[in-house]
Amino acid sequence: MTATDTDTGAAPLDDGFRPLRVAAIDHDTDDSVVVTFDRGDQRLRFEHGQHLTLRREFDGVELRRSYSICSRAPDGPLRVAIRRVPGGVFSTWASTELQVGDEIDALPPLGHFTHRIDPAVARSYAALAAGSGITPILSIVSTILAAEPLSQVSLLYVNRTSRSAMLLDELLDVRDRHLGRLSIAFAFTREDTGGDLLSGRPDRQRVEHWIDAGFLPADADHAFLCGPIELTTDVREALVEAGLPIDRIHREIFTTKQQGTATLAPQEISEDSVAVATGRATLHGRTTEFDLYEGDSVLDAVQRVRPDAPFSCRSGVCSTCQAVVVDGAVDMAVNYGLTDDEVGRGYVLTCQSTPTTDHVDVDYDT
Ligand SMILES: Cc1cc2nc3c(=O)[nH]c(=O)nc-3n(C[C@H](O)[C@H](O)[C@H](O)COP(=O)(O)OP(=O)(O)OC[C@H]3O[C@@H](n4cnc5c(N)ncnc54)[C@H](O)[C@@H]3O)c2cc1C
Ligand code: FES
Repeated sequence: MTATDTDTGAAPLDDGFRPLRVAAIDHDTDDSVVVTFDRGDQRLRFEHGQHLTLRREFDGVELRRSYSICSRAPDGPLRVAIRRVPGGVFSTWASTELQVGDEIDALPPLGHFTHRIDPAVARSYAALAAGSGITPILSIVSTILAAEPLSQVSLLYVNRTSRSAMLLDELLDVRDRHLGRLSIAFAFTREDTGGDLLSGRPDRQRVEHWIDAGFLPADADHAFLCGPIELTTDVREALVEAGLPIDRIHREIFTTKQQGTATLAPQEISEDSVAVATGRATLHGRTTEFDLYEGDSVLDAVQRVRPDAPFSCRSGVCSTCQAVVVDGAVDMAVNYGLTDDEVGRGYVLTCQSTPTTDHVDVDYDT
């Protein structure tokens, strides 16, 4: 295997993680907690809609998980809200065992579920949050209302029941602080609200009724959607059909049943492994050569020689592993993290990429 470094004058190997100290844990719904971190000396700034990548070892296996920052950007409290997923390793630990004073490793805030704020404009926004999808949406909505005093937001918040709605007090507080500029409609999939429109399964027909009724205005300047893939796909398609250009619709999903090429760690290389391509990765100012074997994603191959390669979900969702292809070409198995514009500029999700050329150069620093 080749592992040659160039530009050895670079800083020592640093995988970008820094410890964050837990300053407060507040119980939210029956199955979720709100975790606030001390910023310490690190003046960590974030953009609305971005997330933290947290990592911890469980029985000797390192897990990395992303959690959206749910407060106002750029300098609100560094806070995430974590819902316990049944059988979920990280979320169960975080919501039952994590204590004030604990330290947890985190990457600096990342993510593209955001847009350029303009204090001078009067925009209208549509927002859809389903379940824990409220976390980035709360950050986006509160940032817009604070930083664009002429803009207004229509939010549709979908939950199973009223008891399961996360961050409800914070959301109502934001509405009260910006009187008349945030309208919120609540829809429940397993609770009767007394009307057909806002109770029941959120199928495509109901989504179209939401748009017709103005809960998600199709004449908005931007729409932000966060929730399950099926619902956000329906809403996005219905908004496009109703006239909202797709490049104004921003979407984030947290998980997908389709796992793409998800693996926990790169495969072990043996004498029988078949090399299929070579590559070079530039990361933290250092360029390293690598070999790709059958079954490898570009991330797998890079990680074998550069353990500091960034990643989290390994399933094409979080975009932590993004890089620009500067030479050669790749195929992406799935892509839920990059916009068409970013793909057009050469960005790929390396966890989902396999080379279609004999050689591929990727740059993580761009
Ligand atoms: C960009 C991004 C931002 C995110 N922000 C948040 C956030 O703010 N709050 C939050 O609670 N979560 C958020 N998530 C989801 C989070 O990263 C984890 O996926 C989630 O906490 C489950 O991890 P786990 O280790 O507990 O479950 P795992 O042990 O990985 O999974 C256990 C089982 O649950 C399923 N599963 C995994 N995630 C989910 C899910 N979200 N919903 C339903 N089933 C699931 C898996 O398919 C698996 O069958 C975000 C994810 C991404 C990519
Ligand atoms: S690691 Fe999440 S998209 Fe690649």
